[in-house]
Amino acid sequence: MAASTLSSASPSQLCSGKSGVFSPSSALLGNPRRNSLALAKEKRSPNITCQATSIPADDRVPDMGKRQLMNLLLLGAISLPTAGMLVPYGAFFAPPGRRGGSGGTVAKDAIGNDVVAAEWLKNHGPSDRTLTQGLKGDPTYLVVENDRTLATYGINAVCTHLGCVVPWNAAEKKFICPCHGSQYNNQGRVVRGPAPLSLALAHADVDDGKVVFIPWVETDFRTGEAPWWA
Ligand code: FES
Repeated sequence: MAASTLSSASPSQLCSGKSGVFSPSSALLGNPRRNSLALAKEKRSPNITCQATSIPADDRVPDMGKRQLMNLLLLGAISLPTAGMLVPYGAFFAPPGRRGGSGGTVAKDAIGNDVVAAEWLKNHGPSDRTLTQGLKGDPTYLVVENDRTLATYGINAVCTHLGCVVPWNAAEKKFICPCHGSQYNNQGRVVRGPAPLSLALAHADVDDGKVVFIPWVETDFRTGEAPWWA
């Protein structure tokens, strides 16, 4: 009874010295005379090292503050990567760009600013075709007519052959694809393959001073046919 009370109340120690290994706590429970001699011998020895061999049960459980800190760290370690996965997942389903009041997408210039029609016409002359960001983020040409007004349509710059972005060639007055040589006239109608179809169209309206692209679902005015992209 005395032994169990003693061992649970304090950690036992294992000591080593010149006379070997012994436990001071057990020394108190054995032959008192022999152990007191051993202890006296060890006291005279200059090289005694002791090491705790067990920790009381109460000390093995972290206190409440430590446990809360560990829980917070665990929560942070789980929630940060989870949020990192959910944000792009949600963004995937959100339509790109800000919606215009008419249900379209406001055109963006090369540095991501909304295209203001009046400002655009100050800086872009007749017959200009300059790329903007259009529906679904597609590169889309904004067309300035010869009378310095904005055309009511934009031209999607994605080649209908294999998807290269087709540059405007002002000297030739054509869109000429650098990948395989397809050519389109100044309205985006295909005039030379291998591209099988004309470039897609979008309506280009002005709403509250800004250019807004709206999906084109009507007949393609260049071919008289139903729009292949709608
Ligand atoms: S991708 Fe344009 S011609 Fe091939």
